[in-house]
Amino acid sequence: MRKCPIYVPPEGPPQGILPNPEIYALMGEENIYKMIEAFYAELALSTIKEMFEVDFLPAAHRTAAFFVFILGGPPLYQQKYGAPMMRKRHLPFEITDKARQVWLDCFEKILSSAEKNYSFPMQHYQSFWDYLVKFSAWMVNSK
Ligand code: HEM
Repeated sequence: MRKCPIYVPPEGPPQGILPNPEIYALMGEENIYKMIEAFYAELALSTIKEMFEVDFLPAAHRTAAFFVFILGGPPLYQQKYGAPMMRKRHLPFEITDKARQVWLDCFEKILSSAEKNYSFPMQHYQSFWDYLVKFSAWMVNSK
């Protein structure tokens, strides 16, 4: 059960923020899945681990399907799970700006070795990071 009222970031949904679509072309689906699995393993060690199921792989795979599309690949998430409606899907979880910062810190850690581990193209790092910073701000739903 939610303890606090729903907060809506006043800036509204971010527009025109998609990362460079070459990222998918250069990484491929398998690397994206592996990178997101590692990200969820990192979340499972973090101070926000209670937000996630102990068996985090199913959520990691739904998230990876979403990122395949965001990074320039086919709409896997939409095909498998329907309309993304990400803010709505995150509403059951109380996401404060502090929790968002932990989430971003976990992603930053994974990205620091993602070139070596998952063929992440570092020339597009900034474009992906900007997307994560802006989209995650829209997922904040609690003060
Ligand atoms: C760039 C920002 C983000 C994206 C693209 C994203 C994407 C996703 C996706 C695709 C899912 C799976 C949805 C489904 O069940 O079908 C998900 C689940 C989830 N996300 Fe996010 N998310 C973002 C930010 C955040 C932040 C900032 C938090 C919390 C600090 C968060 C917490 C969660 C939780 C708790 C779940 C449910 C996991 C579960 O089912 O166990 N997300 N996210």
